[in-house]
Amino acid sequence: MVTSDSFFGGAPEVNASAPGRVNLLGEHTDYNDGYMLPVATPQRTTVALSRSNDGHFVFYSSTLDANVTFAPEGSAPSGFGSYIEGCIRLVEAEGVQVPPLRVWVSTDVPVGSGLSSSAALEVATLRALRQMLGFELDDVKLARIAQRAEIEFARVNCGIMDQMASSLADESNMLFIDARTLEHRLAPLPPDAEIIVIDSGIARKLAGSKYNERRAECEEASRKLGVTALRDVQDPASVETLPEPLRRRARHVVQENLRVLEAANGVSLERFGELMDASHFSLRDDYEVSIPELDELCALLRAQEGVVGARLTGAGFGGACVALCKAGYAQRAAEAALNEYNKNGRQGRLLIPVPHEGKENNESV
Ligand code: GLA
Repeated sequence: MVTSDSFFGGAPEVNASAPGRVNLLGEHTDYNDGYMLPVATPQRTTVALSRSNDGHFVFYSSTLDANVTFAPEGSAPSGFGSYIEGCIRLVEAEGVQVPPLRVWVSTDVPVGSGLSSSAALEVATLRALRQMLGFELDDVKLARIAQRAEIEFARVNCGIMDQMASSLADESNMLFIDARTLEHRLAPLPPDAEIIVIDSGIARKLAGSKYNERRAECEEASRKLGVTALRDVQDPASVETLPEPLRRRARHVVQENLRVLEAANGVSLERFGELMDASHFSLRDDYEVSIPELDELCALLRAQEGVVGARLTGAGFGGACVALCKAGYAQRAAEAALNEYNKNGRQGRLLIPVPHEGKENNESV
C-alpha cells in the first residue's frame, strides 16, 4: 500500500473529505421528485490532490491498492477512476481549467452496502478540486455535478439523494430534502434516538438491479395518472385505479412521501420507529425491492430491547438495514441481532455504531 506521503513525495496541495449516507426514511422517492431524510455516516472518504509533473492524470486508491493513469486527452477505465474523472470533466465543462493531477483516495465507507460510497468519492473529489482551483461552487450545485458524474461517467442512473446527503448532511441531524426544488434543511433526530446500521453481507448491485425497472414503472404510473411525477399525486386513493404492478409501486411512493413529511415535522421516537417499519413493509410488499435476508435482519433488530423500528436503507436487493433505538441501547441491540443473523454462516457486520476495529474490516474504494 502506498501512503499519501510517498504518493506525493511529501504533503499534497489539498485534502478534502466527504461522508457516506444512511437514509432514515424516504426510499425510492428521489427520482419521483419526492422527499427524504438521510443522515451522514461517521465513515468518510478522503481525496488528496497535487498537480502532476509528468503531464498525466494519476489516481491511486489506497483502499483498493489500485492505480489509474491516463493522458489528458484520454480517459480512465471503468472503476473508481471513472467517478473521479467524471468530476474533473464536469468541472471543466463549467469552464474551469483543470491541470493534470495526482489524486490519492482513501475511505472507510463500505462499498456495496447501500451507504453511498460513490457519492462520498464524488463529493470529496469536487471539494478537493474546488479547494485547489478556487472556483465558486455552492454545495447544492456540487451535489448536482456529483450526480451527473455518477450518471454520465459511472453509468448509474441514480437520483439526487446520495450526493445531496454527502454534500449537505451531518451526523447528528437528518437532512430533509425536496428532490424537485432541492430545498433542504437540517431537522433534529427524534429525542434520545440512536442509529444502528448493519450490513446484511449480501452485495447490492444497483446498476444491474431492478432499479431502472422501478423508475420506468413510476414514470408510467405518473403518465397514467396525468401528473408530472408521483410527488404530484394529490389524492392517495387515486393510485388504486392503476393496473398492477403500477398500483403498488405508486402506492409505495405516495405513502412514503407522506411518512417523510410527517417525520420531518418532528414526531416521537416511537412514532418514527412505526414509520420506519411501515416503510420497510411497503418496500417489501408494494415496491418489491427487499430480499429475505433484509426482512430477517430487520425483524431481528425490531425484536431487541430499545429498538423502535427498522428498515432496509438504500436501493434494496441487498446492502444494509437501519434501525432506530433509545439512546444507550444501540450497541447491545446491534450485537444481539447480528449474532442471531450470522448463525448459519451469514456475513453480516456492524457499520454503526462504528466498531473499534471497523477501519481495518472495511474493504472499499
Ligand atoms: C440509490 C440511489 C438513490 C435513491 C436510492 C433509493 O441509493 O442512488 O438516488 O434512489 O437508491 O431511495
